[in-house]
Amino acid sequence: MPQFRILRFDPDRDQKPYFQSFDVPEKKGITVLEGLYHIIENLDPSLAFRSSCRAAVCGSCAMHINGQYRLACETNVDHLHSHTVTIRPMAHLQVIRDLVVDMKPFFKNYELIKPYLIPGEEPPEREFIQTIEERRRLDVKVDCILCGACFASCPVASTDENYLGPAALLKALRFVDDSRDGATMERLAFLATDFGVFRCHTIFNCQQVCPKDLDPTGAIQRLKWKAIWAKLKGKLPKVEVPAA
Ligand code: FES
Repeated sequence: MPQFRILRFDPDRDQKPYFQSFDVPEKKGITVLEGLYHIIENLDPSLAFRSSCRAAVCGSCAMHINGQYRLACETNVDHLHSHTVTIRPMAHLQVIRDLVVDMKPFFKNYELIKPYLIPGEEPPEREFIQTIEERRRLDVKVDCILCGACFASCPVASTDENYLGPAALLKALRFVDDSRDGATMERLAFLATDFGVFRCHTIFNCQQVCPKDLDPTGAIQRLKWKAIWAKLKGKLPKVEVPAA
C-alpha cells in the first residue's frame, strides 16, 4: 500500500507547513492524481489540489513529486519505484492552500509577451494562408500547456519575479517564428530588455522538467541570437519596459 506524504499548509490556520501521510490502496496503474482523489473522497476532504482534464492537457495538476516536477495525472505510482510518494506544491509561488499555488506571477509574465498574433498588414478577408513549411516552424512550440513546472524549477525565476521565465519565452519564440505575425522586431526588442532572454543562465532545469518534452532553454538561446542579430543590424526599436 503506497503512502502519500503531502506537504500541507493553510495560511489561515497553520503557523508553518507540515507533512501529513495517508495510506492509499494498492491498485495497478493508479496515478498520483487518482491517489489524491482517493484521499479527499475517503480520508480527508480538506486536502486542496488542482486538476481538470486528467489527461495531461490542461496543465493544472503540476506539482513536485518525489524530487521532480511532474503532472499528477500522468504519473503512475508504480513508475516511481518507491513506497512513499512525497508531494509538495510548486516552489516560489505563494501557497493558497496545500498543493494549490497562486499562479498570478506566472500568468502576469505570460501576458507581457503578448501571446497573440499582431498582424503587420490588413488581415485578409478570410484567413492567413501559411505554407506547410511555415506551419512546421511552429511545431512543438505550440504544445506548451502552461503547467508552470519550468517556471517553478527555474532558479532565476525564483529570485526575480520580473524575469519573464521559460514558459513565456518559449511562447514568445512561437510568435517570433510565425509568418503571420508582423511585430517581430518589437517582440525581440522587448525580449532583450532587463527581464528577458539575457537574464537566463542556461541552467536547463526547464528543459529537464517539461512534461511535454519541450525545450525552453533552446528557445531562449534562439531568441538571444535573433535579438543580437537584430541589434547589430540596428533593427530593434525602442520599447517601454513595464514597471516592476
Ligand atoms: S489534470 Fe489536466 S494536466 Fe493533469
